[in-house]
Amino acid sequence: GDDRIAKIASSIRVIPNFPKPGVMFQDITTLLLDPRAFRDTIDLFVERYKGQDISVVAGIEARGFIFGPPVALAIGAKFVPMRKPNKLPGEVISEEYTLEYGADVMEMHVGAVQAGERAIIMDDLIATGGTLCAAIKLLERVGVHVVECACVIELPELKGRDRLGDRPLDRTSCLEGIPGTAI
Ligand code: PRP
Ligand code: MG
Repeated sequence: GDDRIAKIASSIRVIPNFPKPGVMFQDITTLLLDPRAFRDTIDLFVERYKGQDISVVAGIEARGFIFGPPVALAIGAKFVPMRKPNKLPGEVISEEYTLEYGADVMEMHVGAVQAGERAIIMDDLIATGGTLCAAIKLLERVGVHVVECACVIELPELKGRDRLGDRPLDRTSCLEGIPGTAI
């Protein structure tokens, strides 16, 4: 493996019982306090995606807005925010998705991407996969090819892979050992 990954993993703080009992919250704010770990995280994604003709990095509000833009700049792609409802001022397309409790809506500006573009989707963490699934649907509805979803952390015990079949987890890369599949 890559010795950068162990350092990144150790920079992530785990807070038990936040935001509710039984949840082990993966706190990436401590990763952001460590410039070496933050730099290495971005570099690992850039190494994976540079030279793959990716013109769109779609970042999911809120924590995908932290990791997506530096990757977009480094690979020469545009950054497209996937936002919570009623935040984007222009014409949007929307996708509803389910959370552990209740539902949420994700929105993207019409015209931000063109059919035939190649995209990656970035977020901090995949749990059930519902959030990434909504982002994939939004991009595919307008003819964009989603090459891969990229997350720092995976929570495999949530069994998103079983629940959602082959998408989006079979095309999700996470940093190895955080845990997740090898980047
Ligand atoms: C968290 C996390 C992912 C999502 C993963 O975001 O940042 O975006 O949950 O969950 P899933 O795989 O089960 O869909 P959250 O909705 O808590 O909001 P935030 O990023 O704005 O804090
Ligand atoms: Mg999030």
